[in-house]
Amino acid sequence: MHAALTGRPVISATGLFTPPESITNEELVASFNTFVDCHNAANADAIAAGEAVALNHSSVEFIEKASGIKARHVMSKAAIIDPDTMCPRLPERGNDEISIMAEIGVAAAREALERAGRRPEDVDAVLCAASNMQRAYPAMAIEIQHALGIEGFGFDMNVACSSATFGIQTAADYIRAGNAGSVLVVSPEITSGHLNWRDRDSHFIFGDVATAVLVEDAAIAPAQHWDILGTRLKTVFSNNIRNNFGFLNRAAPETQGTADKLFVQEGRKVFKEVVPMVAQMIVDEAARLGIDPASLRRLWLHQANTGMNRLIAHRVLGHEASEDESPTVLDTYGNTSSAGSIIAFHKHNEELAAGDTGLICSFGAGYSAGTVFVRKVG
Ligand code: COA
Repeated sequence: MHAALTGRPVISATGLFTPPESITNEELVASFNTFVDCHNAANADAIAAGEAVALNHSSVEFIEKASGIKARHVMSKAAIIDPDTMCPRLPERGNDEISIMAEIGVAAAREALERAGRRPEDVDAVLCAASNMQRAYPAMAIEIQHALGIEGFGFDMNVACSSATFGIQTAADYIRAGNAGSVLVVSPEITSGHLNWRDRDSHFIFGDVATAVLVEDAAIAPAQHWDILGTRLKTVFSNNIRNNFGFLNRAAPETQGTADKLFVQEGRKVFKEVVPMVAQMIVDEAARLGIDPASLRRLWLHQANTGMNRLIAHRVLGHEASEDESPTVLDTYGNTSSAGSIIAFHKHNEELAAGDTGLICSFGAGYSAGTVFVRKVG
């Protein structure tokens, strides 16, 4: 435990791991359409007899217009775009090797620690906050903690696309309560594993990445950091984004790969219901903190869909947001679940000036949403 802590949480630094491989919309659609053609040819008689429905082609134009996504990074490109496989193939590792989620989480965490000038032994806790965990136990956070050589404790938390902001509030609460001085929030998101790459409605949505956020007491933070002015979380139950995969349905091979054990959504409903909920939440939280939403220098929003971000930013700022006011990483990363707003923050905060106020905001399945208002210091 550190001496003379203030109980004031700040973001000391962030880290990012980006998989080297990336799939363009053109590559994705070519693979998907080959799969569709093969499927339709193999089922031609049943389709002609009206006993089966022909599948439709996907389109690069639709994907870009509906979502803003142009490419996505992945951990296993060849298998995903192979029309005979169309899912990641990440070989299982032995128990004496680091698991892949921990490995990419560690890479992001190391960058955050390096940027903050922090040694692992000075960190008190690790939270692994992500949409999917590779296994039930031991917790991914404990493996990451072990790999980095951190003492103290770690645990996993899953709040889908809002996992990182929920992790930041949890870390901030440890700081506020004086239970920790330095907490790593790590979000390894291998979302290619929960995406149904054969589903035309959603096959373009997700990408893989890992982020890390070092939340610390102001007393030990580096000179340049972001004060956390306030955090707020919200959940409202909805079936409109759902994934039924779980340990109780693992036994039946005939159910493996069926669509509801992967990501499914009612995209239109999500769009309509989440935009007003999140915009209102931001405005209410700004009022609570005495911040004029129109004065926010930058919004680092969850990266699911450019249309949603445009509407939310407009409602918050009172005008159409520029790329400078609400930066996008969706075009090259796709939706990276909880990591999206953190990638945007990581890539687009350094040029801001001391005193600038901004907002990190997530939203997604649950529904779940989280806001973290921050102000630059140093
Ligand atoms: N290629 C070509 N056409 C496609 C297509 C594809 N891959 N997928 C769907 N279409 C077609 C549909 O068949 C439909 O055609 P129709 O009008 O002839 O029936 C049309 O495009 C519109 O489909 P729809 O699903 O209503 O598209 P949309 O405009 O709602 O966009 C999403 C789909 C998913 C991009 C959008 O709804 C969205 O982003 N919603 C929010 C999702 C979200 O943020 N989820 C959170 C996840 S964490």
